[in-house]
Amino acid sequence: MYHIAFLGTIFAIFCATQAHQLKQKPLAQYISYSSVPGYFLQDNNSTNSSTFDFVATNFGLINQTYPTDAQFDPKNTKSQWERFANQVFRLNLVSPSNIEYKILFIGRHGEGYHNAAETFYGTPAWNCYWAQLDGNSTVTWFDAHLDANGVAQAQTVNNLWSRLIATQNIQTPQSYYVSPLTRCLQTANVSFSGLDLPASHPFVPEVKELLREGIDIHTCDSRSNLTYIKSLFPSYTIEPGFTEYDLLFRQSTSETPTAQGLRSKTLLDQIFSTDGETFISFTTHSGEASSLLSVLGHRSFSLSTGAVIPILVKAETLSGTAPVTTVLPYTSQVVCNAPPITSQATGTCVCSSGSTISTGLAKMR
Ligand SMILES: *[C@@H]1O[C@H](CO)[C@@H](O)[C@H](O)[C@H]1NC(C)=O
Ligand SMILES: *[C@@H]1O[C@H](CO)[C@@H](O)[C@H](O)[C@H]1NC(C)=O
Ligand SMILES: *[C@@H]1O[C@H](CO)[C@@H](O)[C@H](O)[C@H]1NC(C)=O
Ligand SMILES: *[C@@H]1O[C@H](CO)[C@@H](O)[C@H](O)[C@H]1NC(C)=O
Ligand SMILES: *[C@@H]1O[C@H](CO)[C@@H](O)[C@H](O)[C@H]1NC(C)=O
Ligand SMILES: *[C@@H]1O[C@H](CO)[C@@H](O)[C@H](O)[C@H]1NC(C)=O
Ligand SMILES: *[C@@H]1O[C@H](CO)[C@@H](O)[C@H](O)[C@H]1NC(C)=O
Repeated sequence: MYHIAFLGTIFAIFCATQAHQLKQKPLAQYISYSSVPGYFLQDNNSTNSSTFDFVATNFGLINQTYPTDAQFDPKNTKSQWERFANQVFRLNLVSPSNIEYKILFIGRHGEGYHNAAETFYGTPAWNCYWAQLDGNSTVTWFDAHLDANGVAQAQTVNNLWSRLIATQNIQTPQSYYVSPLTRCLQTANVSFSGLDLPASHPFVPEVKELLREGIDIHTCDSRSNLTYIKSLFPSYTIEPGFTEYDLLFRQSTSETPTAQGLRSKTLLDQIFSTDGETFISFTTHSGEASSLLSVLGHRSFSLSTGAVIPILVKAETLSGTAPVTTVLPYTSQVVCNAPPITSQATGTCVCSSGSTISTGLAKMR
């Protein structure tokens, strides 16, 4: 009896171990992001974003020496950008395998027809009435295109890259991601055309759905179909799974900041877990840039049309599950039935001719 029981116990332990091994899931992991201060003027609290000039300040790169300079630049001949790139590559070399540093150049598109229209009508009337339309009788702002001013702003960014390539041998982006909205496709095109880029890292941006602007009733933030995007910029690559029609735009409800934050985090996770490059360009929107900065733990820094902000990002892969964050559902939108709208500081619409809760269905187009 004793003998049999003993064997039985061994057998039970063996079975339990087998079952445990079969059931064991890979350990849960998540990526925690932070922005590393001390390299760029934009992350210093005393820099005012509304007056800051990224063109006149070398993209905001602070003039300084780095610990890695002594070995890399003993004769003091390298540029600030060359020494910075070396510093970042060294950070990656000596950091533990679960920590990765990347430089994100986050650019906002140049001025679009929708920006000019918002200025023309004023923000309350824009948000409460005009933005839900495709345009007025003279101007279209559905999936808004760049206006002449916006093209000039993108050209300014192109001139800055061109100058920094020539004078500082700046490390240019090694990969590029762009929002699917036409104004961003155009901004990236003008910003990076005709530059002396390394043959190993040409300008071939990937169109990414999640880099789009916050989603609500504004038709300027709904995108065109994939056939159109491909016909406009055939050299761009399209991310896997990108749909022909815009399935995310709603003509009724608005993405909340927490929902947008989750979208931004998902986008970063996609890129950080698949892209091994270190210098990366995003071409996106003001609202989406703010959301990304917030997820990255960067101080808030609003970008004017056409502005670019570089951020040194530290991504740490941790085991376990990410801290739970509350994601609030999309909220309904009240719109005025007609102009004029005479509103107010609070953001609520004060309509002259009644209001409705927007329940429109987004068109497939
Ligand atoms: C921020 O900028 C101010 C003014 O230039 C400077 O005195 C301060 O040391 C900077 N702070 C950091 C943390 O770099
Ligand atoms: C910058 O300002 C924020 C908010 O005012 C504050 O929480 C933070 O500690 C400041 N950072 C530095 C380095 O002074
Ligand atoms: C930033 O600059 C703007 C424009 O000059 C000014 O109105 C604002 O008060 C400044 N903000 C701070 C925090 O100094
Ligand atoms: C940084 O260094 C460059 C080149 O030496 C110089 O032209 C520029 O004025 C410096 N910027 C600041 C803010 O000191
Ligand atoms: C349409 O909006 C634009 C602003 O983008 C404005 O310049 C133009 O006058 C408007 N057209 C009409 C007919 O009101
Ligand atoms: C920019 O767009 C134009 C017009 O579609 C095209 O001819 C050109 O090749 C594009 N350049 C880049 C770098 O995408
Ligand atoms: C795709 O979008 C373009 C530009 O908006 C439009 O002209 C075309 O009709 C659309 N195609 C389809 C099949 O919806």
